[in-house]
Amino acid sequence: MIVAITSGKGGTGKTLIATHLAEALARLGHRTTLVDADLDLANCAVLLNETPRWTLEDYLLGRCGLEELFHETEGGFALLSPSRGALASPREAMLEVLDGALWEAQARSEFVLLDTPAGLEAPVLWALDRAHLALVVLLGEPAAVSDSYRLIKHVCALVPDYPFALMVNGVDSAEEAEQVAARFDAIVERFLGRSIPYMGHVLYDPELRQAIQRQEVLLRRAPQSPSSLGFHALAERLLHWRAELQSRTEELLLAKEA
Ligand SMILES: Nc1ncnc2c1ncn2[C@@H]1O[C@H](COP(=O)(O)OP(=O)(O)OP(=O)(O)O)[C@@H](O)[C@H]1O
Ligand SMILES: [Mg+2]
Repeated sequence: MIVAITSGKGGTGKTLIATHLAEALARLGHRTTLVDADLDLANCAVLLNETPRWTLEDYLLGRCGLEELFHETEGGFALLSPSRGALASPREAMLEVLDGALWEAQARSEFVLLDTPAGLEAPVLWALDRAHLALVVLLGEPAAVSDSYRLIKHVCALVPDYPFALMVNGVDSAEEAEQVAARFDAIVERFLGRSIPYMGHVLYDPELRQAIQRQEVLLRRAPQSPSSLGFHALAERLLHWRAELQSRTEELLLAKEA
């Protein structure tokens, strides 16, 4: 299952959520690959304090094989990074090799998480086009709300029932997250005539900020911290969602056969 982590707005916590969700899924025993699809400002490897030997750009330039792209992290999941430093290759060529890498990632993992950049440019649309689910990382700020809404509106104009799910980051309580999600869903319902399921929240956590500064993964060091529990619950919710999707697909297939 491919899940794109997205938001429209910059700095909402997409990379943080993508890296920690990968860590949480791996801790629950699920084979996971995290693909850093932020081609221009990739930073999953920095956040995780990992130094992959090879990158997608190396693969594009014929310096390594497809298999070698999959860097095994300390957290027990694979990481695929676009480049070392600034990207020198054309994006179109990178997106083409990303397709091949995604194919391989799917073959070797139960979950492939795509960390996307802000905005609505080619890598975001590439990720949304390939994902089975887009997890929208929402903050309870007007700019974040309007950017996420704009992203969803853009996609719904092309695919009205695109599978979006919502999570709220950086809140002080579960109640606050639920209120932010409900307000957002009411806007989507009113203007786009559909609903977006709510998947959970991650609390604002000063310990998380400190861990980022030390290039530590908080979920690994303090699995019981408030934000770690949020990441864990999000992973559980994703597993549940996948199980529901599978049983619905099986039902449809059985109905077709009957
Ligand atoms: N739940 C949280 N608690 C504390 N700090 C947070 C939380 N979520 C995000 N942050 C802060 O926000 C910063 C930005 O997060 P992150 O890099 O994941 O955002 P992003 O959406 O990936 O940004 P970009 O759009 O630039 O890719 C983090 O480095 C961290 O300092
Ligand atoms: Mg990011």
